Amino acid sequence: MKKQVLATAVALFSIGAQAQGQVNIICSVQAEWCNMIGTVYTKTTGTKVNVSMKGSGEALAQLIAEKDNPKTDIWFGGTGDPLLQAAEQGLSFEYKSPALSQLHGWAQQQAQQSAYKTVGIYSGPLGFGYNSELLTKKKLPIPKTWNDLLNPALKGEIQVANPASSGTAYTMVATLVQLMGEDKAFEYMKKLHANISQYTRSGTGPIKAAARGETTLSISFVHDAPGEKMQGFPVETVTPADGTGAEIGSMSIIKGARNLEAAKKFYEWALTPGAQEMAAAAKQFQLPSNKSAKNDARIPDFKKIKFINYDYAKYGASNERRRLIAKWEKEVNSLPR
Ligand code: F6P
Repeated sequence: MKKQVLATAVALFSIGAQAQGQVNIICSVQAEWCNMIGTVYTKTTGTKVNVSMKGSGEALAQLIAEKDNPKTDIWFGGTGDPLLQAAEQGLSFEYKSPALSQLHGWAQQQAQQSAYKTVGIYSGPLGFGYNSELLTKKKLPIPKTWNDLLNPALKGEIQVANPASSGTAYTMVATLVQLMGEDKAFEYMKKLHANISQYTRSGTGPIKAAARGETTLSISFVHDAPGEKMQGFPVETVTPADGTGAEIGSMSIIKGARNLEAAKKFYEWALTPGAQEMAAAAKQFQLPSNKSAKNDARIPDFKKIKFINYDYAKYGASNERRRLIAKWEKEVNSLPR
């Protein structure tokens, strides 16, 4: 009997959800946040949410592949550079949200420079993660600058992601090029290569590995550490004293979206303070783009960090992004270690 009631409820709910439409999302933040927005949005609106999780570079590759027959309505999250590239390549839909003025300047700028094909939903600084217990045990100093990562004692002790699949790692490449100039940045990355044990697929892989003691150091977004710490892992972060870059995590509606109206509604919802505060509830600590969103105390304090003046338009341009990633593959990743 009970089974029958449940089946009827599920059937009724599915009819309800169908009536409210559905939205297909590629989600490039961590699973807990992706699942939370899907569940909460479905519960509150009756719209079915299908979430597929992909790193920023991989998401872009999928959208290019399905360009003539898009199966995605929304790309939620991920570093802004590949979303700007998607905008330039005509993969995303122009949409000017009435909520734009409620967002921080950097999020609005992301919208303006893409002709309103993407918008900033969060920001976060790049830095170093380290396992404090391992570092002490191995008697290694806490790295303070980019050059400190070249210390020969760190051979095999550092992980970073692969810039072809990960927006985090591309942010590192672009940051170094802007900080040092291209030639010096590539010389630097070739030397750094000797100390890297693994280039992971996902940008959060290295800080998770550092938290679990599988590597001593990582190059990561510093907002990805508090969630690991909350699980009891001995992981700390530092931002380089000589300067670093920040991502503008972004969102786009996909051009040719089959569920365009549902996608616009979801997009508006995702810009609200309530939706953005869900990040911290899912133990993710990027800075929300809506000025009225409550900022959790674990969000990195931007005022204490030395930032470069990251040129998002330049490093989000298709040719530049493709060129730098290809150069990294050829000149850095192919070197023996
Ligand atoms: O979800 C955590 C996060 O660091 C985001 O802030 C960022 O946009 C995303 O991961 C980048 O992931 P990836 O480097 O795998 O593309």
